[in-house]
Amino acid sequence: MKKDHFAVRADEYDRTDYRLNYVDAMAQSILENVELAPGMKVVDFGAGTGLLSERIAPYVQEILAIDVSPSMIDKLRAKQESFPCRLEIRQMDLCQEPFEEGPVDGIISSMTLHHIEDPVALFRIFYDMLKPEAFLALCDIDTEDGSFHTIDTGVKHYGFEREHIGKWAESAGFVDVKVQDSAVIVKDHGEYPAFLLTAYKS
Ligand SMILES: C[S@@+](CC[C@H](N)C(=O)[O-])C[C@H]1O[C@@H](n2cnc3c(N)ncnc32)[C@H](O)[C@@H]1O
Repeated sequence: MKKDHFAVRADEYDRTDYRLNYVDAMAQSILENVELAPGMKVVDFGAGTGLLSERIAPYVQEILAIDVSPSMIDKLRAKQESFPCRLEIRQMDLCQEPFEEGPVDGIISSMTLHHIEDPVALFRIFYDMLKPEAFLALCDIDTEDGSFHTIDTGVKHYGFEREHIGKWAESAGFVDVKVQDSAVIVKDHGEYPAFLLTAYKS
């Protein structure tokens, strides 16, 4: 079985102030820049304990939460009964296993892309998961010096250049690609700006 990189973090994950602050800001940036509707089914990629899903749930019909980590999924499952929308949960590695749920109205994601070896390949997977004109709204950190993570939870990138990430989305076929400010993550040892990428399937 693959290593669960988040096993050491899952218990304290939802009790960390800096994290709650940045997820609030990221969710707000998604709500301000993407049109959500009550009938929508949206995937949260790398949903973890569901912090982003919880904040988007009041605005959609269903969230399909995808995460590879059993320990993070356990925390999310504990919230399922009281979730503000229908919540489906899939424990899977989206980079290795096929998505077989049918096309969805949108994909949201926060702080997961930097854990992915090949982001270009993932953008292609995202594209295939969406209905025509559906959206992608993805938040992650700008390029940093490697100091952001104090333990290694399977980090593959020290953030991203906004120009690169926009080009990667376009190379997968996305249109109307925009990369803008999303949040500033304030940790004890530094401040880390983060972006929101929005893009649409043509
Ligand atoms: C930093 S956490 C972010 C969790 C949540 N989105 C948030 O902002 O609180 C990254 C999550 O992505 C998940 N993840 C990493 N690679 C993945 C993959 N290939 N497929 C599915 N989930 C993945 C991890 O298990 C982890 O729960």
